[in-house]
Amino acid sequence: MPIFPANSASIARAATRIREGRLVAMPTETVYGLAADATNGRAVAAIYAAKGRPRFNPLIVHFASLEQARALVVMTPMAERLAQAFWPGPLTLVACARKGNGIAGLVTAGLDTLAVRMPAHPVARALLAECGRPLAAPSANKSGRISPTMAAHVAGEFAGEVAMILDGGTCGHGLESTILDASGEELVLLRPGAIAVEPIEAAIGARVVRRLIDPDAPTAPGQLASHYAPSARVRLNAVSVEAGEALLAFGAEVPVTRGPVINLSESGDLIEAAQGLFAALRTLDASGAAAIAVMPIPAHGLGEAINDRLSRAAAPRG
Ligand code: TXA
Ligand code: MG
Repeated sequence: MPIFPANSASIARAATRIREGRLVAMPTETVYGLAADATNGRAVAAIYAAKGRPRFNPLIVHFASLEQARALVVMTPMAERLAQAFWPGPLTLVACARKGNGIAGLVTAGLDTLAVRMPAHPVARALLAECGRPLAAPSANKSGRISPTMAAHVAGEFAGEVAMILDGGTCGHGLESTILDASGEELVLLRPGAIAVEPIEAAIGARVVRRLIDPDAPTAPGQLASHYAPSARVRLNAVSVEAGEALLAFGAEVPVTRGPVINLSESGDLIEAAQGLFAALRTLDASGAAAIAVMPIPAHGLGEAINDRLSRAAAPRG
């Protein structure tokens, strides 16, 4: 699997691959994305095939400018305010799709809304500018597995399906974008993510409604109970470690264990914990432990998104 350090030559080459309808893995500020030309139905179909992703689970479209977003979806006044406050950045807005916007039908899996995001990562921005197309990009992992925060994670999961991987180093946030449904009157949180709810509410001066997901009947496709799953079992809120378990620790007070341990943040910093979460799950999984015991993580700020990912990683596998 060809990994290219991201520079102007490799980005130009990646843009050519995109225009040819091929898949390119690109770094974003959240996680690596598996990108294809969102206007090319065959290319988008190749994303679903490479990931083994159910066709009912729609994709996020990435674009370079606010004008492009306005051409793809109806930006409500609330959506405009959010865009002003957080774009470019790790916020995805679900909005009503404009008819005839050129986006391949498969991207939205038949919904009349479209999820849009303007990434902040310089490599993603350069690729978007160079290829001149909106890019459909889910996280660059096999469906249901842990999202990649380094180029090597992507290379370990895909072979010939991906034309090239642009290596932009480790992703800064380490968690996927926060997804807000801004298509209606109220603002609904569909997925907690790299921007915590508190700063969003502060920026817009309004409350964010959480749409509780029933794992047996997901209201938004893709919010399946089991996701982000390592091969090892995951045990949450662990206060001690059992034989054969690896430990995902948080904070200064760590239970004694002879097994493998990764501390997400000794100082109890949720930003640091978010950034290292997925790589830590991969490393502990690779240790061969039968289970990963996870210490309690606070629920506020980014802790909401971290706990969301961990509870899905721990959910019974479908
Ligand atoms: O940070 C991110 O958002 C990363 C990077 C690559 O941008 N992308 C990402 O994509 O996390 P993905 O496909 O792994 O997650 C997209 C989520 C899915 O849960 C999907 O169901 C939801 O967005 N989604 C997409 N379109 C939607 C829509 N129209 N309505 C509701 N949910 C939608
Ligand atoms: Mg994903």
